[in-house]
Amino acid sequence: MIIAVDGPAASGKGTIAKALARHYGLPCLDTGLLYRAVGLNVLKNSGDPDREADALTACVFEDALLDDPALRNEAVGSLASRVSVHQAVRNALVQRQRDFATQLGGAILDGRDIATVIAPDANAKLFVTASVHVRAQRRFNDAASQGGHPDMDSLIADIQARDTRDMSRDHAPLRMADGADLLDTSDLTIDAAVQKAIALVDAQLEGRRIG
Ligand code: CDP
Repeated sequence: MIIAVDGPAASGKGTIAKALARHYGLPCLDTGLLYRAVGLNVLKNSGDPDREADALTACVFEDALLDDPALRNEAVGSLASRVSVHQAVRNALVQRQRDFATQLGGAILDGRDIATVIAPDANAKLFVTASVHVRAQRRFNDAASQGGHPDMDSLIADIQARDTRDMSRDHAPLRMADGADLLDTSDLTIDAAVQKAIALVDAQLEGRRIG
């Protein structure tokens, strides 16, 4: 069984995917981390994230990089969004994601193109979203709780820039897949969003839609 969870930055897809993984007892892959690792690696190599050749070189990295806390930085998220526009980068990361998706027993993957490109035959597909303001507020709260001094206006601008780049790129743009259910978490607590996600997935698995 494969469950695909896609959506824009800070929509809650990662939290929902991890909760679904616990609920269904499946392993979960945050595919954004792979693109973040490439983004961070470009920086380490002093490469240019907008040059396809530099971004492709950065696709070769040690697994330990996936545990680097720097991957979570907003700046690395932006770098990830820039390197992920290159087809060569997407190709370099596709097999790793498909291997994870097709492992025995099933898997959950969250990202931007799971239901459209990586696993179009997934048994259940969710597209998780929330308003730009709510998503910026979540980033604000995360940063403030870690002792940071975030600026709301620049968080909104970053999220909008990332949405535009992710949705308008030529290769695997962010969009809701055919057969996916939309889950808007703008007005939902984490618990409520997770309960709704489980109900939607159960319905898709049973062949009855409630979305
Ligand atoms: O956590 P957040 O939603 O902010 O970002 P992420 O899921 O870690 O993804 C970072 C960036 O990687 C996104 O803005 C996308 O441009 C890119 N990405 C992608 O192109 N395809 C994926 N399957 C996952 C991420």
